[in-house]
Amino acid sequence: DEGLHPPEHPWSHNGPLSTYDHAAIRRGFQVYQEVCSACHSLDRIAWRNLIGVSHTEDEVKALAEEHQYVDGPDENGDMFERPGKPSDYMPRPYANDEAARAGNAGALPPDLSLMTKARHGGADYVFALLTGYMDPPGGVEVREGLNYNPYFPGGAIAMARVLFDGLVEYEDGTPATTSQMAKDVSTFLSWAAEPEHDERKKMGMKATVIITGLLAMSLWLKRFKFATIKT
Ligand code: HEM
Repeated sequence: DEGLHPPEHPWSHNGPLSTYDHAAIRRGFQVYQEVCSACHSLDRIAWRNLIGVSHTEDEVKALAEEHQYVDGPDENGDMFERPGKPSDYMPRPYANDEAARAGNAGALPPDLSLMTKARHGGADYVFALLTGYMDPPGGVEVREGLNYNPYFPGGAIAMARVLFDGLVEYEDGTPATTSQMAKDVSTFLSWAAEPEHDERKKMGMKATVIITGLLAMSLWLKRFKFATIKT
C-alpha cells in the first residue's frame, strides 16, 4: 500500500544552477538538533560538514564540544571520554537498534542521512509526512501506538506528530510555524543527503565556462590554420 503522493514544492535547490538556501539549512539543523535528534541518527554528517554551509568554524567547534565522545585506547589501553571535535560525526540518540526500538514501542527510527534520497518524493515526502498528521477517515482503524498519516505507506506510522507551532525559537526571527519548521528541516535533510551539492553545481558552472572558452579558441585556431588550404 503506497502512501498518498506528496504535493511538489518549489525547493530553492532544485534548479540546474541554483544552490541551497543556507539560512534554511541553518534553521533546519536547529530543528534536527532540538527535535529529531532525540530519536533519529544522522550518521553520514560530521560537525565539520556544517562549516561554511550553515555555521562558522567557531560555532561548529562549540556545537561539537557540547557532546562527549568515547575515544582511545590511550597508552594504557583504556578508552576515555573527551569533548567532541569538528571531525566527529553527529552523535546517535541510541546505543544500538535494540535500544532504539525499546524507546519507540518496537519501531526503529531510521537514520535520516539519506532519507530524502531513499524515499520517493524526497524533500516533498518529508515535508508532507511532518505536516500530514490528521484524524483517520471514517472506517479506518489505527492500531494502538500508531498514528494516522496518509503520506506514510500503509497510513499508520509509529512516529507521532512532532512539530507544533512555536516549538523552536529561531535566532533569525523567522516565525517557527509547523510548516516553516517542516520546510527548514526538509531542506537541511536534502543538503545532508548530498553535502557536496552546491560545490558540484559551482564546479559545473566553472567547467562550462572553461570548456566553452576552449571550444571557441579551437574553432578560431582551426579557421586560422585552414585559411590557406580552403579553395
Ligand atoms: C520515522 C522524520 C522526529 C521517531 C521517520 C521517517 C522520517 C522521519 C522521514 C521515515 C518514514 C519512512 O520510513 O518513510 C523525522 C523528522 C523529525 C522526526 C524530520 C524531526 C522533525 C522524530 C522523533 C521521534 C521519531 C522526535 C521519537 C520520539 C520515529 C520512528 C519512526 C520514524 C519510531 C519509524 C516509524 C515507523 O516505521 O512506523 N521519521 N522524525 N521521529 N520516526 Fe521520525
